[in-house]
Amino acid sequence: MSDVIRLLPDSVANQIAAGEVIQRPASVVKELVENAIDAGAHHIDVLITDAGKTCIQVIDDGKGMSETDARLAFERHATSKIRQAADLFALHTMGFRGEALASIAAVAQVELRTCQEGEQLGTRICISGSKVESQEAVANTSTQLKTFSSIFQPAVSS
Ligand SMILES: Nc1ncnc2c1ncn2[C@@H]1O[C@H](COP(=O)(O)OP(=O)(O)O)[C@@H](O)[C@H]1O
Ligand SMILES: [Mg+2]
Repeated sequence: MSDVIRLLPDSVANQIAAGEVIQRPASVVKELVENAIDAGAHHIDVLITDAGKTCIQVIDDGKGMSETDARLAFERHATSKIRQAADLFALHTMGFRGEALASIAAVAQVELRTCQEGEQLGTRICISGSKVESQEAVANTSTQLKTFSSIFQPAVSS
């Protein structure tokens, strides 16, 4: 009998892994609001269109991200919240797995605008299907993460 096992392409593996974190649009809202709280936000706006299937936008006034961090944040297992296994026993943040943004970017088109506290210039990054489509400097902005026109609708349908 011939061999039947194949390694899945990264894009498919990413979408399967994303399903563990993002089961429905409400999961996106939960993860983004938790990130805003972890960033020390005092004010969080949540804008939802079509029950989250078309657009979810979370805007916060937390500490924001640098240009490099904004890009790294979408990698799997990329987090600023823990460094080693021992940190798991002293968690003080809502998130720590470094998987939420990578998972969201695997199942939806994402636009992030962010600026670090005290900086004049921020960054805007657009990601689709886990691929960075563009990154550019923008004027000082609050942190705004928007998911829209989900191209993997089955993976985020409620
Ligand atoms: N709203 C935000 N403001 C500032 N930093 C953020 C925000 N959202 C995400 N980040 C940064 O991106 C990283 C990755 O986020 P995420 O994928 O949700 O993983 P986790 O929250 O488990 O660390 C966070 O550790 C944090 O450093
Ligand atoms: Mg998180």
